[in-house]
Amino acid sequence: MADGSAGVLLDERRPETSTPPAPVIRFLRGAVLLGQCPVNPGETIVDHAEACGISLPTNCTSGTCGTCMVSLILGEVPLPEELPPGLDDFLVEEGARLGCIGRPRGDVDIDIRPPI
Ligand code: FES
Repeated sequence: MADGSAGVLLDERRPETSTPPAPVIRFLRGAVLLGQCPVNPGETIVDHAEACGISLPTNCTSGTCGTCMVSLILGEVPLPEELPPGLDDFLVEEGARLGCIGRPRGDVDIDIRPPI
């Protein structure tokens, strides 16, 4: 080639993948990252925490007592249509979720502390 190169054209585009990266749940205490692991659909926040080696306190494991309350910082943890006894509208507005019944959807950041 006239420019002195070896005439090899490199295709620097990354190969297209049809599978997006697996969603990840991250557990934090304030700004400190405690651990992270892939999201397994259908598993609760408490299940994910255990998989990350993080112990969240639980009691009733049915959404009643609020012992497992954490704060949703980023992402989506859908709520049941009717809030369980362990949550109320104010707490939800502050980002509260219940680890024993909350199931993350997609990438999620959780502060293991309750919002208040
Ligand atoms: S352990 Fe009681 S609400 Fe989650």
